[in-house]
Amino acid sequence: MLQIRDLIWGLLFIGCAASIQVQIIPTQGEISVGESKFFLCEVVGDAKDIDWYAPSGEKILPNRPDIFVSRTDETTSSLTIYHANVDSAGIYKCVAKNGNKEAQATVQVKIFQKITFESAPSPQEFNEGDDADIVCDVVSSPPPAIFWKHKGAKIEPLKDVRFRIMSNGHLQIRGIKKTDEGMYNCEARVMARGEIDFRMMKVIVNVLPTIRARQADVNATADIGSSALLACDADGFPEPTVTWAHNNVVLETGDKYSLNEDGSELVIKDVKKVDEGDYTCIAKNKAGEKTEEVSLNVFVQPKITYWKNQTASEFDEEVTLTCEASGDPTPVISWSFGNRVFTEGEQSLDRNVVVRSHARVSSLTLKNVQFTYAGQYLCTASNSIGQDTKPIYLEVRYAPKILGEVTAYTWEGNPANITCEVEAHPGASLVWFRDGLQLPSANTTNMRIYNTPTISYLEITPDSQNDFGSYNCTATNVMGSESKEFLLIPADVPSSPQIQQVEPFSSTAVVEFEEPDSMGGVPIIKYIVEWRLLGEEWTGREFEAEDDMASITIMGLKPESTYEVKMSAINGKGKGESSLLTVFKTEPVPGEPTAPKLEVKAQKGGNSFKVNWIKQDDGGSPIMHYLIRYKAKHVSEWKPEIRIPQGSEYVLLNGLEWNTEYDVYVVAENQQGKSKPGTLSFKTAVQPTTIPDATGGGSGLGTGAIVGILIVVFFLLLVGVDVTCYFLNKCGLLMCIAVNFCGKAGPGAKTKDLEEGKAAFTKDESKEPIVEVRTEEENTPNQGGGGPTEPNETTPLTEPDGKTVKDDNAKGETETKNATAEVKTVPNEAPQTNGNESKA
Ligand SMILES: *[C@@H]1O[C@H](CO)[C@@H](O)[C@H](O)[C@H]1NC(C)=O
Ligand SMILES: *[C@@H]1O[C@H](CO)[C@@H](O)[C@H](O)[C@H]1NC(C)=O
Ligand SMILES: *[C@@H]1O[C@H](CO)[C@@H](O)[C@H](O)[C@H]1NC(C)=O
Ligand SMILES: *[C@@H]1O[C@H](CO)[C@@H](O)[C@H](O)[C@H]1NC(C)=O
Ligand SMILES: *[C@@H]1O[C@H](CO)[C@@H](O)[C@H](O)[C@H]1NC(C)=O
Repeated sequence: MLQIRDLIWGLLFIGCAASIQVQIIPTQGEISVGESKFFLCEVVGDAKDIDWYAPSGEKILPNRPDIFVSRTDETTSSLTIYHANVDSAGIYKCVAKNGNKEAQATVQVKIFQKITFESAPSPQEFNEGDDADIVCDVVSSPPPAIFWKHKGAKIEPLKDVRFRIMSNGHLQIRGIKKTDEGMYNCEARVMARGEIDFRMMKVIVNVLPTIRARQADVNATADIGSSALLACDADGFPEPTVTWAHNNVVLETGDKYSLNEDGSELVIKDVKKVDEGDYTCIAKNKAGEKTEEVSLNVFVQPKITYWKNQTASEFDEEVTLTCEASGDPTPVISWSFGNRVFTEGEQSLDRNVVVRSHARVSSLTLKNVQFTYAGQYLCTASNSIGQDTKPIYLEVRYAPKILGEVTAYTWEGNPANITCEVEAHPGASLVWFRDGLQLPSANTTNMRIYNTPTISYLEITPDSQNDFGSYNCTATNVMGSESKEFLLIPADVPSSPQIQQVEPFSSTAVVEFEEPDSMGGVPIIKYIVEWRLLGEEWTGREFEAEDDMASITIMGLKPESTYEVKMSAINGKGKGESSLLTVFKTEPVPGEPTAPKLEVKAQKGGNSFKVNWIKQDDGGSPIMHYLIRYKAKHVSEWKPEIRIPQGSEYVLLNGLEWNTEYDVYVVAENQQGKSKPGTLSFKTAVQPTTIPDATGGGSGLGTGAIVGILIVVFFLLLVGVDVTCYFLNKCGLLMCIAVNFCGKAGPGAKTKDLEEGKAAFTKDESKEPIVEVRTEEENTPNQGGGGPTEPNETTPLTEPDGKTVKDDNAKGETETKNATAEVKTVPNEAPQTNGNESKA
């Protein structure tokens, strides 16, 4: 209605108004989205109404929030566009009216969009390996061009296929890596306006945790207050947190569990069997979570939970001991009694012991119960981590058993014990009977009873024969009673010992004997040994008897005398029969040796003889040496005596006269003196006609002469040189040689002489006999006692030879064996002279 009225009024103005002009300032407008701008509409002329029309043609009424129209004065109206948006664009019209006069003007309003980052968050996080879509939403009109930069360089997807700039301007990184992390620059440009803007954004790459158990299986022992440590190590970005769960319950530090700072270690305190099972460690961060299982095995030490002492009676069919044990792994139960061990399935040889086990229970069954089964049995439960042992006592009740010697010996007036020893359980009471009457009875004053828990002694001092005989010991307990006869027997004297043999020495003798066959019932206390020289008084001595005595030594005997000896044994009852007489002869006291026995053997050549002697009795002390003398039968003078050390057994006599009878005497000497000589005679052979060595000498004579001539020539030359030397040095070579020769002549003389002597004898057939003494080591028992040889009036040989003899004694075997002493003697000369000559 109103519009129609206005229209009528408008038409009236147009008809009556002269002219009106309208102008809009500014004449055109560009507004960025969101900005505000106003326009003025100026009217020239009288205008009653000034109206604005929106691009849609619709008149703009006042009170619109986004577009505001106001009449500032008579000729001006303003149009204000607040917070322009793209819808505000278009042609706006200003119309002025007065009556039927009307004028209008238009203005074109353009709206444009500036670069606007609608979404470019920072930081943006991705998980490693994902296809990351880095958001950068930019708007502008016209739409912008988007560029991405990283580490100061433009990202060029053509160069790296992992990068792509999407149609919406986002940057896509395929399979993003930890190394892609950093700042990214999203830049937008609007070429038309030269407008540019950018946003920096941080890209974070998160890494999924990894987790690893340090030990997949953990062992622990229950009920000993010990802890178990379970550990998992985790990695990832950001640093993951580690938590633990058991049976789907998250574990927290407290009485039962404790966790370390980063949660990697879980300690389970005071481990119990119920704690066994799987534990899960969980590592968690933004990228996700990973889990791992750790198994806790809880072992339980064996513990014997049931055991009980048992009582049985002898001859019961069987008795069973039972033992029950707990533990994990289930323990194995074994049984032992003393050193014997019983295990399941393994039965004793007599099949009287059977072990049966079932799960945690084991039983030991003993069949045909005997009293020896009583005692402590050990039940042992063991598994891989330990063992437990408990003692079980088996009590076996049994009737008394009487032990002990049944017979006792004594004699009238001598107290003796009859011993009744009893084994019984429970303990037995012991009673003695004699002829049905309990002892001691009123009129038995000669008996006493001593009781101990297991033994009863009945001490009887027999007054008469009546007291000997049988006694009855009766033992009684709840299981029964047993009685046994004991005999008191009159003791007898021992029978005679038997002398086996007598080993005589010069003043003592060892009598070896056998104990008497019969001891008479009581032990032998002493032996009496009696001896006498034939036909003289008996001498006797008592010897205390000892266990296993088999010999007695008697002393004070005369040497080399004949004795007879007898012996008898004595026990408490008295002295027994004497043994048979045994006769023996004592040894002589040590004296001089017995004369050696001689043998002689002709050597090659016929005038050499080897005289051997065989050692005879040494008279009780060791032989020190042998003395040898010999001479031709027809002469009265003996050749000088030769002394040979003990241990030697022959002498070689060389260079004897031909066809002559000789006598040889050999005497053995010990500390006590000289033996009688062992004597022997022999005859040398008839002299052979040719001497083998002489022919050899003859053939060598020619050569010898030539050599002699050469030596003479050499000698003359030597003298010539030497004379010269002598005059110049006052000490010629010849002189030196002479001195040297003389100097050595002394020590070398002996050997030389010996050799020369032998040679001379063989060549010259001189009548000098040669004596060769060979000493050989011999292990005789007397050797040790041989000692140093004392020289005596029997003329020792030359001093050097004497030394040789001594040395031979002292030195080792080999040396002694090789030692050969050759003695050259001159016939028909006094021994003293001979010795002096050798010394010279
Ligand atoms: C745990 O005990 C079992 C069985 O006794 C054994 O085989 C295993 O080696 C043990 N493990 C450790 C880590 O000691
Ligand atoms: C079993 O007997 C022994 C010795 O007789 C005794 O010390 C122990 O206490 C007994 N044990 C039980 C469980 O009866
Ligand atoms: C008999 O035995 C008792 C107890 O052991 C002892 O005191 C006594 O001396 C013994 N008598 C004889 C003669 O051995
Ligand atoms: C004990 O004395 C009585 C009479 O006084 C006698 O009849 C009995 O034989 C005697 N017993 C013995 C064991 O000597
Ligand atoms: C011992 O004496 C008791 C009681 O008088 C008797 O019952 C038993 O038969 C006797 N034993 C022997 C072996 O004589």
